[in-house]
Amino acid sequence: MSSDELLQAQLELYHHGLAFVKSLALKAATDLRIPDTIHRRGGAATLSELASDTGIHPTKRSNLRRVMRVLTTTGVFSIVQGKGSNDHAGDGAAYYKLTRVSRLLVERSPHNLSPMVGTIVNTLCWTSLLKMPEWFTQGQEGESAQSHSLVQLANGCTFWDTTKVDGGLFNDGMAADSRIAMKVLLKEHGGAFGEVKSSLVDIGGNHGATASAVARAFPHLKCTVLDLAHVVAAAPASDILTFVAGNMFEYVPPADAVLLKWILHDWKHEDCVKIMRRCKEAIPAKEAGGKVIIIDMVVGYPVTQPNDSIEAQVLLDIYMMGSDGMEREENEWSLIFSEAGFSDYKITPTNGIRSIIEVYP
Ligand SMILES: C[S@@+](CC[C@H](N)C(=O)[O-])C[C@H]1O[C@@H](n2cnc3c(N)ncnc32)[C@H](O)[C@@H]1O
Repeated sequence: MSSDELLQAQLELYHHGLAFVKSLALKAATDLRIPDTIHRRGGAATLSELASDTGIHPTKRSNLRRVMRVLTTTGVFSIVQGKGSNDHAGDGAAYYKLTRVSRLLVERSPHNLSPMVGTIVNTLCWTSLLKMPEWFTQGQEGESAQSHSLVQLANGCTFWDTTKVDGGLFNDGMAADSRIAMKVLLKEHGGAFGEVKSSLVDIGGNHGATASAVARAFPHLKCTVLDLAHVVAAAPASDILTFVAGNMFEYVPPADAVLLKWILHDWKHEDCVKIMRRCKEAIPAKEAGGKVIIIDMVVGYPVTQPNDSIEAQVLLDIYMMGSDGMEREENEWSLIFSEAGFSDYKITPTNGIRSIIEVYP
């Protein structure tokens, strides 16, 4: 290696190794409600305004500047030098503004995604993934992978156990994701839902954010949400949805179409086949309009998607590995569908990282 190559390699290695700092700076800014502060101050705030509004101790103000430097460098916020026409503080100080990323962290915004930051960046995930080397080298022949997921190895409980005691963070994160995802999917690819005859059941539909969006967009559809009893018990009342408490491995209520948004990526192959078999039992034949609509990732599909989209997909795959879930490539999806007895499928990629997969009996 030449000197330049050696130094470039060192730089890249440090860059990869320090990537976690970006996550933690994002989490700190979200928890300190910095996006809300900037928003409340009309879209721009100086460092001292941020510090006083968010209760930063005076001895730590210079440290806040360092965190904001990470977040402006990575595009979460932008920084504008004062003394210009926008020098609202009049003191020439730099001030911070929201970008399209941090606008998604403003609490009052209809697109508020801040609960997802806590869902993604948390101690459970970190402690689990730090166990990867140990987890990779453990295991016995014939042993179910489910019996010792990374989350279980590190925390002694399953991922789903933790969602019962997280103060609603996970459910809020799911609802926040659904509000944005469904707004775009229904606008750009609504036909997949509009052509459903008269009924749809959203499996693992959580508190109904996804199904509500579908029901409002297509009032001819009678929409039902199936989820675990404790999730349904905490769901807000709805006059457009019917909630059913149950276990998708045992029973799926009959409907013209079954919706699975961000469900199958939680489960390993054999479990997905079981869930899809239950779905097939619940819907009519293809000729009568029966189908399963999956909203999930198809990793690497289409091949033309930008590199940051593929990187987000493969990173999320490792996050899912913590609880024995996975993000799948097309051939892995196809195998699930054929083993569950489905005849055909159609993938519609969206501009985000997920696709709509329509699966026909
Ligand atoms: C990743 S969340 C997705 C929620 C929602 N579909 C969305 O995208 O916002 C998975 C959902 O599956 C539910 N779930 C987990 N196991 C289940 C089971 N055996 N039967 C029914 N629902 C289940 C969870 O309670 C949770 O609401």
